[in-house]
Amino acid sequence: MKKKIVVLISGSGSNLQRIIEAISNQEIQNAEISMVIADRECYGAKRAESAGIPFHKIKRGTDFCSQLEACLPPDTALIVLAGFLSLLSSDFCYNWRGKIINIHPSLLPKFGGKGMWGMHVHEAVKAAGDLETGATVHFVTPEVDAGEIILQGKVVVQPSDTPEDIAHKVHGVEYEIFPKAIEKLLKGWKE
Ligand code: GAR
Repeated sequence: MKKKIVVLISGSGSNLQRIIEAISNQEIQNAEISMVIADRECYGAKRAESAGIPFHKIKRGTDFCSQLEACLPPDTALIVLAGFLSLLSSDFCYNWRGKIINIHPSLLPKFGGKGMWGMHVHEAVKAAGDLETGATVHFVTPEVDAGEIILQGKVVVQPSDTPEDIAHKVHGVEYEIFPKAIEKLLKGWKE
């Protein structure tokens, strides 16, 4: 039986695309994406559609998590947040503890927490003058970006890099570490 992954998105979905590719080329073995869920209109929905993956939109807001809970297949092995921008409720995090992971575009614990997402993160790295950043795959807990770290990848920041350059480099390292982290977890690294 293939392990079932549900992917949550809010944006372009390039990490979703990378996961689709990693399943098809066996970097992630014996798995399938059983559903993609978005909390808003986004390009990632088209990627799910093109790949023939069942897609649902659940409007962001207070009952997002109860609706999500109602449509998640009970045999879901992993819930993967791939550029997903809503916060999940404490109850939801508790019910699915150890089975929800997120990718964050910095070397956590640096540049994490509320308000730190997407370009805001890369702008903060630039403003701090850091010459190194990266991406982190971590477990999701009710405290934003604070769950246990599964895998990190680093990139060098040149003083001349713009936040857009940094974002491009970080996306590159995300595409390396995300499939590795998913494969590691599905192989039973941690329940
Ligand atoms: C990724 O860089 C991801 O790390 C970030 O959003 C981007 C989504 O790109 N996530 C966060 O900032 C969450 N705090 P994608 O839609 O092309 O995969």
